[in-house]
Amino acid sequence: MVVPRSVAVIMDGNGRWANNAGFERIRGHERGIDAVRTTVTECAQLGVKALVLYAFSEENWARPKHEINLLFKLLKRFLVKERGTLMDNNVRLLHSGRRARLSKDVTKLLDESIGLTANNDGMCLSLAISYGGRQELVDAMQTLAREVAAGKLSADAIDEQAIHNALYQPSLPDPDILIRTAGEMRISNFLLWQVSYSEIYVHDICWPDFGKEQLHEAFREYGRRVRKFGKVT
Ligand code: FPP
Repeated sequence: MVVPRSVAVIMDGNGRWANNAGFERIRGHERGIDAVRTTVTECAQLGVKALVLYAFSEENWARPKHEINLLFKLLKRFLVKERGTLMDNNVRLLHSGRRARLSKDVTKLLDESIGLTANNDGMCLSLAISYGGRQELVDAMQTLAREVAAGKLSADAIDEQAIHNALYQPSLPDPDILIRTAGEMRISNFLLWQVSYSEIYVHDICWPDFGKEQLHEAFREYGRRVRKFGKVT
């Protein structure tokens, strides 16, 4: 097994897990939280430096209102209940995404947990909430355009590094591996800039059933990949 420095996860299949088990969709999301705790703890203990979890996409705002409300209720509960898990594992919490559509109570709890864990120097955990890859690039371009308009940046100085620096969390390295559960072979607007050379790993299992064993399996597969970055080995 090779432990990647940076991991990103599309946690898919909560609804399917619930349907298969004869439960309401929300039970799948509830069980998804247990899988989040397991993955965060295990990644931190194995020495992963950065973990980005796709918790709520910009497109997820189009889901039924009651599901959105329940998802944010779970998210808020997670932000309070798991503070101990984050502190015990020396995890620093970050947020990737747009804050504008998040309610005040969500941003308050998010900011509190981010503040509480700010001095932890183990793994960084970024929760992608109200996140879209295209929207992140739009926001980055606007930031750079404003700097050009203000005369602080020349257009010629916009290179890959400048774009990277304008992303939501420029301190995070690009993912070495992008894990997706529930079998779908899609990127779904996640980290479009950052995944250009990520190893993609898709597991058929639904997210609530993704545990330590499956994480280790992903890292073993990662160890078998030959990363050429366009070069000849
Ligand atoms: C995809 O399953 C999952 C989501 C849209 C939300 C993921 C959220 C969690 C795991 C819980 C909250 C997260 C944190 C970090 C506290 P789906 O509903 O699209 O499943 P389906 O495709 O089978 O319907």
